[in-house]
Amino acid sequence: MPLVSMRQILDEAAKKGYGVPHFNVNNMEQSQAIMSGAEEVESPVIMAASKGALEYSDIIFLRNIMNACIEKYPKIPIALHLDHGTSVEICQTAIDLGFSSVMMDGSLQKDGKTPRDFDSNIEITRKVVNIAHPLGITVEGELGCLGGIEDGIGSGREKLTDPGQVKEFVEKTKVDALAVAIGTSHGAYKFKIKPSPDKNLLAMDIIRKIHELCPDLHMVMHGSSSVPQELIAQINKYGGAIPETYGVPLWAIQEGIKAGVRKVNVDTDLRLAVTATIRKFMKENPEQFDPRKYLGLSRDAMKKIVMERYTKFGSAGHAFDYEPMSLNDMKKFYEND
Ligand code: G3H
Ligand code: 13P
Ligand code: ZN
Repeated sequence: MPLVSMRQILDEAAKKGYGVPHFNVNNMEQSQAIMSGAEEVESPVIMAASKGALEYSDIIFLRNIMNACIEKYPKIPIALHLDHGTSVEICQTAIDLGFSSVMMDGSLQKDGKTPRDFDSNIEITRKVVNIAHPLGITVEGELGCLGGIEDGIGSGREKLTDPGQVKEFVEKTKVDALAVAIGTSHGAYKFKIKPSPDKNLLAMDIIRKIHELCPDLHMVMHGSSSVPQELIAQINKYGGAIPETYGVPLWAIQEGIKAGVRKVNVDTDLRLAVTATIRKFMKENPEQFDPRKYLGLSRDAMKKIVMERYTKFGSAGHAFDYEPMSLNDMKKFYEND
């Protein structure tokens, strides 16, 4: 212990009104940054692996990196989560590997691109819940498609989550958390203009409406990297060529958290931190060739970001608030649900 279910982490976050960052992990240095940052600020951890991460690092390696986190930090509650599972089979693989949480992203078909219709999303998500809950494992679903609203990058407002569908979806699937589409998108190229409260790039009204209709629902914001401008500047200063681009501001995430967002997905910001660090190091130290030098520095840069997110989303200081529940305890929780 404590490998915990994501459900417990989010239930506890809801009780006190804070959000918990979800960080994607692909390698050892990332996992170390996520954990040592969490230990320093005393935050619970949601560590996620995408299908791409499982393929890149190899399932066995990644699972053991995650296991090492649990062994090294036995007091910090950690949920191991599958990000964007696109089929029942991939969710089953993650469950077999010992993940305590899976996302069945039924908003899209198996190709990960084509939107799936509402009924078929309910059906496939429900199948995963039927497998996961009897084992005490959490399930996140998704309604609506990610993509910018009016910058021409994404899918337009019509693909965003329809608040009118949420109650039915949650009741029929029994998901523990729901990813909502409000105009964010994955990666560094989210917005061509800087979001501000008077520019309507994010549909915060959708989050508020869902919270009004389903006050107990744990909402998840994907595509929530903030794309720090100092990292973009550093990458470009040392040979990169990233065009002008903006991410989701921390104030917008904090607004979402006030209205029921409990998990905030961040991947790109850690990638930017690594790239900015390595580009600078290579340029300034052309005689160096020991990867531990620049990977160690990139781990420090990632740790700085994760600590800021734990603090700004409000999960810092809450790691030891509650008694971690085992997956066996969670089985009983679902039996009585
Ligand atoms: O959902 C997107 C995450 O950033 C994971 O990205 O599929 O490249 O690992 P990935
Ligand atoms: P970013 O690309 O904004 O970091 O989003 C990550 C994400 O949503 C992972 O599921
Ligand atoms: Zn995502």
